[in-house]
Formats: sequence, C-alpha cells, structure tokens
Amino acid sequence: MVYETLKWTGGVDGCLELLDQRKLPHSVEHVRCRSVEQVRQAIRTLTVRGAPAIGVAAAYGFVIAMQDLAHSKDLEGAAKLIETAAEYLSAARPTAVNLFCAIERMRSCATAVIRSKGATAALLLEEVLKEADAIRAEDVAMCLQMARNGEPLIPDGSAILTHCNAGALATAGQGTALAPMFEAKRKGKRFTVYVDETRPLLQGARLTAWELMQARIETILICDNAAGWLMKQKRISAVFTGADRIAANGDAANKIGTYSLSVLARANGIPFYIVAPSTTFDLRTSSGGDIPIEERSAEEVTLFANTLIPPQNVRVCNPAFDVTNAENITAIITEKGIIDHPDRTRIAAHLQAPGE
Ligand code: MRU
Repeated sequence: MVYETLKWTGGVDGCLELLDQRKLPHSVEHVRCRSVEQVRQAIRTLTVRGAPAIGVAAAYGFVIAMQDLAHSKDLEGAAKLIETAAEYLSAARPTAVNLFCAIERMRSCATAVIRSKGATAALLLEEVLKEADAIRAEDVAMCLQMARNGEPLIPDGSAILTHCNAGALATAGQGTALAPMFEAKRKGKRFTVYVDETRPLLQGARLTAWELMQARIETILICDNAAGWLMKQKRISAVFTGADRIAANGDAANKIGTYSLSVLARANGIPFYIVAPSTTFDLRTSSGGDIPIEERSAEEVTLFANTLIPPQNVRVCNPAFDVTNAENITAIITEKGIIDHPDRTRIAAHLQAPGE
C-alpha cells in the first residue's frame, strides 16, 4: 500500500495521524489528533472508519487521554481518568465491536500498570503506547493472514462483488474483504471486482474503487441496486464483504445493504463470503438481533455533494448497518482459517483453535 490509514507520530508525547477519508479520492490529506476529543470526533465523522481501523484509532486515543497524567507525580486521579477515557471513546460509534475490544484492552493494560508497585506516569504512558502499538501490529498481521486464507476462493477469470470499503482504509493493514483480492492480484490471477457505490456515504465509489484501481485490479463501479440484476445474469462469481460485528451464532452486521446482497446471492446460488478478523466476533452477543445498529443523520441521505435532493424536511430513516443471517453466509474467512456454513458450534471451535 502506498498510503497509511493511520499512524502514531512521535514518542509517548506524540499524536495520531489519520488519512482523512472524507476527502478521498480527490484529495489526499492528513489530520493530526492531539486530544481524545479530536480522536472521538474523527471516528464519529468517519475521518477514520472501518471496524478494525476505528479500534486501532481508539487505542491511540486512549494513549492521548493518558498524556494528561504526564506531570502527575503519584498517579492521583489515574483510575478515574482511565474509566472516563474508556467510556468517552466507547461512545464514538455503537456497532463495530473492534472499538470496544481495543478500548477494553487499553483499560486493562492501564489498570494493571497503576496497580503495580512503584508505578509512575512515565511507565503508564510507555505501557499504554506499547499496547496500542501491539493492537495495530496484530491487525496488520491478521490482514496478511486473511489475505492468504481467502485468496484461493478467488478463481482465475472470476468476477467478485464487494460492498462498502473493507480494504486498507478500513484497517491498519491491507484490509479484510479486499485483502484476498490484493493477494490474488499479487499471484497473477485475472479477475474483475464489481464495486457497489454504497449509498449514502459512497465508501465503495470513493474508497474501494480508489484502492482497487491503485492495485491495478480491474474495477467496475455499479449502483447498489444493479447488484441483483448482475447476479441474475450470472455475471458475479462470489460476494466478498467485511463485517463490523459477528454474533456468537454467525449473524453478521455490516454496512447497510449487505443483508440484501446476501439474500440476492442465496437466491442466485452465488457464494457469499465474509472476511473478518477474530476481533470482529462478539461471543457475548448471542445473535444478530442484539447487535446495536447505528442510526446516522438525515443529511447523509438528503444531501448529495452538499446539494439538497428531496423536498425540504422529508422524513428520513438512515440505519448505517444491517445484519446478515448466518444461514445466508457461505463461509467466514478469518486470520485462523475458514468457517464453512458458520453456526454457534463451529464459530466457538474456530475461535478456540490456535492460529495458522
Ligand atoms: O460506516 P463505516 O464506513 O465505518 O462502515 C464500514 C463497514 O461497514 C465495513 O464494511 C466494515 O467495517 C468491515 S471493514 C474491514
């Protein structure tokens, strides 16, 4: 990848640098977050987005929150600051479980440090930065492994359909659903990727098309509502998407429109694959009905390139995610391998098994 979605700049007193995804593809700009408020706002406004990427961004946001203790001699107030930062960052977005996983890890790390004998603010900062770096490095490694595990599912000469953006921009590494495509390209396979525009915020048109074209993968942009027709005409070999949260029974939340694609794929006998790291599974959520679905602003639907399209004051419903039933999913590809026809038992066994 020639771009970095997010990176930490400097030492313990450093800051988080984000590639501003609101501006892509026509402008490549970076923003620097030096406060926890800026990090939360960046996540809320989709400056940084995609389930794994927002987890990593929140981990660094937590480090920034701990910088307030830099001059504290006896770590007085540290416990309260840890809780406040964790709660504050958790409220950024509700659906992607990677956010909560990362924050939980940061909270446990910080709490363990302040409870240790002779703890200092300097030690706390060093340890939380190490933990955030570890979360980032693990994400990079998981992407690499998902690429390898998913690549054999892309036959030479095939046509893949994808939705939203599950590429490098959605992770710290090379992506989830797009990672097997990058790997297949590296191996010299020829294939085409149909990219759903992904209304209302056009992550497909703006971000996925940009990433695939940079990788010189044959890319064809379609309106979201063209997918069913292409499937019926047998022009699609498989659907690959990411996920924001996968419940214990295999129901998977992803960008709004994913569920419809899964129904269409099933009706047309086309395999429907989800590519996601183990950090996207939430075994505490029993089934898809318990996954919180983010509702976003009406303006995302009513404004197109800042121009109001429908009549003023029209009522809008704008759920950002939907849930695909496990029975519509042919397989889930993780960094550990492949879960065919996912269900509660197979998922539990897969996640317990050691990585490949
Ligand atoms: O609202 P977004 O752009 O954060 O939604 C992102 C998605 O739905 C992605 O498909 C999902 O996070 C999987 S990404 C690796």
